[in-house]
Amino acid sequence: MGLRRTLTKVLGGYPGGWRKYARGSQGSETPPFVQPNNRDDRRSAIPALGLRQYWYPALPARDVGWRKPVGLRLLGTDLVLFRGKDGEIKALWDYCPHRGAYLSWGDCFWKGYVSCPYHGATFDGTGECVEFITEGPDSKMVGRMKARVHPTRTLKGIVFVWMGEGEPVPIEDDVPPEFFQKKALVQSAFRYWKCNWMIALENTGDAHNMFYVHRDSFRQLRTRTGGRPRTPVGYRVKIVDNVAVQRLNKGDLKGTEGHYEVNGKLPQQLYHPRVGAYWPKHRWRLLWSWIFEPFERRRLRKPRIQNPERWEGQRLPGMVRNNHHTHMYTRWGVPVESNLTRAVYFYTTWPRTWWGQIYDRLAFALVLKWMYFFNFSDQDYDAMRSVRYQYPEFLSSTDNPVVALRKLVTEHARGIKREAEIAEETTAEQMVREADRLLGVSGEVGTQR
Ligand code: FES
Ligand SMILES: [Fe+2]
Repeated sequence: MGLRRTLTKVLGGYPGGWRKYARGSQGSETPPFVQPNNRDDRRSAIPALGLRQYWYPALPARDVGWRKPVGLRLLGTDLVLFRGKDGEIKALWDYCPHRGAYLSWGDCFWKGYVSCPYHGATFDGTGECVEFITEGPDSKMVGRMKARVHPTRTLKGIVFVWMGEGEPVPIEDDVPPEFFQKKALVQSAFRYWKCNWMIALENTGDAHNMFYVHRDSFRQLRTRTGGRPRTPVGYRVKIVDNVAVQRLNKGDLKGTEGHYEVNGKLPQQLYHPRVGAYWPKHRWRLLWSWIFEPFERRRLRKPRIQNPERWEGQRLPGMVRNNHHTHMYTRWGVPVESNLTRAVYFYTTWPRTWWGQIYDRLAFALVLKWMYFFNFSDQDYDAMRSVRYQYPEFLSSTDNPVVALRKLVTEHARGIKREAEIAEETTAEQMVREADRLLGVSGEVGTQR
């Protein structure tokens, strides 16, 4: 053993060569999240821990039992979740008002109550201290001490929590409409991304990575252009109802999608003269497209899901909603810490029969989960998590959706407090506008309507 270790060290270039600390102690981890502090940069005014005056998905209700409370960090705040007397899931700030212990490390000795692990302060679902075990039944703490409550509501098996101050807004304002539809089947998945929530959200509006980052994903191989055409102009967007950033339709602005088209068709490969080569480098992907394109065409022919406009595109407080014709896809980036995001996925269908329901469940469990979350989203994740917010950017016309999204968050979000005073028009916005001018495109960044 000793010999093997010595050999490894010698052959490996003791003490590990230049590779081991190539990126310092950070290694291959996400770089630290540092926010710029500059009135000329909207990124300075985006709350690193998320927008608080909103409802957020927390966890599946079935993960909260009767005996043990559950702890969960959301927007930098620790919550304790447990079942109240009525069986509904309640949330308190995971902080015992007596001396600060985690309530989630305690127990639910009696149905509907959570007891602190330290001195046995016992709270009900409204946060009222109903017993203080270590002081006995005559404790004067009872009725005086109160834990902080976060209103909750369980819909389609998902617990939603109001993270804001004061009275919550109607939950219908923040939670997608299908959660209130009897016939909708909403399936979910939870994952973690080690990056800031806004970096994750900006990625969803980043129109030009599709053909590049996802060149080998199954979703993109289904069509030869990967759903999003390459263009130096990019999509044009609008801010809808102060809550969403949405793409303008084809034809709303001439020359965006059709820029490289030849006879009305976008070639699969484009020639890049400065490197003297084609991208993509190979044509073998077309083989896949030939197999899958007919299915794809059939899927697109099916009637489109009717969805209110404000519920499509990037939407406050941090989700993206894509209408995929046969299903509705939602990815909600829930901030946990400034450099950690819980990606909550909702996959919604409206099966009409029981076998349709079984089919949808199987498709999600066996194929789509993998296809969306691992095969597709992880490609984004690997690319975007190295984005460093603290440095300046050099933006192009195709960055218009990202710039509009920042405008939405810093100007239109509920309860947004501007920590930094932001310039009338930031350099980022000017850059996108200048790029548009060079290309002869009209339209403002994130046109409001
Ligand atoms: S810290 Fe919770 S009861 Fe004392
Ligand atoms: Fe992507």
